[in-house]
Amino acid sequence: MPGDPAAGCPALSRRSFLAASAAAGALPAQAAAPTPARPADAAAAAVHMTVNGSRRSLALDPRVTLLDALRDHLDLTGTKKGCDHGQCGACTVLVNGRRINSCLSLAVMHEGDTVTTIEGLGTPEALHPMQAAFVRHDGFQCGFCTPGQICSSVAMLQEIRQGVPSHATADLMQLQLSDAEVRERMAGNLCRCAAYPNIVAAIRDVAGGRA
Ligand code: FES
Ligand code: FES
Repeated sequence: MPGDPAAGCPALSRRSFLAASAAAGALPAQAAAPTPARPADAAAAAVHMTVNGSRRSLALDPRVTLLDALRDHLDLTGTKKGCDHGQCGACTVLVNGRRINSCLSLAVMHEGDTVTTIEGLGTPEALHPMQAAFVRHDGFQCGFCTPGQICSSVAMLQEIRQGVPSHATADLMQLQLSDAEVRERMAGNLCRCAAYPNIVAAIRDVAGGRA
């Protein structure tokens, strides 16, 4: 039979050819699938960040998010885990001055970065102006979203100072901080307690320099 390895060799049947080949290792029985790495097996990655003014060095599973690194490895539990899917903003922190959802970012992506959490903005004795304004305007009820709201609003005012427009900006040449502007820019930070009017008032207070 054309193409038959045993063809033309009457002393070697197809069955005996296969048996001999398998015994010699020429035909591996079945390629073993690689075993998926378990968390304990994953190689730790070194990450160095400046967090709230202090240089921190961590050895982390590469799959650890920045949020979990802050909360579980640095005990900075002020940053909250709400949805863990980038939908609520409770995990907002500042990285190199910009606001990000820390649940959507791997810690290993922040080698050399400067991270500021709610603990780094102010202290109970010396509140950041935005923290003081939230207290003054009752910008919270349960407080779970508040660290993210405050970090986000601090970065948001910086974005306005830099002239970054939003979808609610009517005049690109003269950016006004209206309620609509604040609400649009803070749309990524949800509050289940619906403290939105007070949050907007606190932000506008700081923006007006009265904090
Ligand atoms: Fe990160 Fe909700 S916990 S956006
Ligand atoms: Fe409760 Fe915002 S104060 S979720």
